[in-house]
Amino acid sequence: MSEPSPFENETALPDELLFAREKTLLGFKPRFDKIHDQLRLLLNSGELQAWNNKHHKGKLAVTELVAEQYPLVIFHGDIGTGKTAMAECIANRLVAESRSEDSILFKLSNRVRGGGLVGEMGTLLADAFYKVFPVSVHETD
Ligand SMILES: Nc1ncnc2c1ncn2[C@@H]1O[C@H](COP(=O)(O)OP(=O)(O)O)[C@@H](O)[C@H]1O
Ligand SMILES: [Mg+2]
Repeated sequence: MSEPSPFENETALPDELLFAREKTLLGFKPRFDKIHDQLRLLLNSGELQAWNNKHHKGKLAVTELVAEQYPLVIFHGDIGTGKTAMAECIANRLVAESRSEDSILFKLSNRVRGGGLVGEMGTLLADAFYKVFPVSVHETD
């Protein structure tokens, strides 16, 4: 018997349904515009280093600081305030805009909470990341 997937679904991006969803979200654009530049910086920190090398002979220390940030975004707010909907539509738009190929939205299932009082969340999350990035997670483990 195969193990249950830690993902609820896997969606190839860009996705037309998510573009349609975005149109129904009140306030999507101002929210997206507000964090857009920061997200691109987080996702493309390699480009920043190339820019530093080209224009500043690699001397700008700030690029290292940016490169040290984890590409992790935390949404907060009550249940039903649109965290999931925003996250999915933002990912969709970022992929469309960067024209990157082979992008997949992996949506974690509630199963990663695991069972028992403490749960097995850490292990299950690590497994989920390993399924997405087998090599990099293995190397840093
Ligand atoms: N900005 C918004 N405009 C219109 N409807 C929204 C908005 N944010 C959320 N919704 C509606 O509320 C539902 C629940 O949002 P969801 O993203 O699942 O919330 P959360 O993840 O914060 O619990 C969405 O499916 C959507 O129909
Ligand atoms: Mg949610």
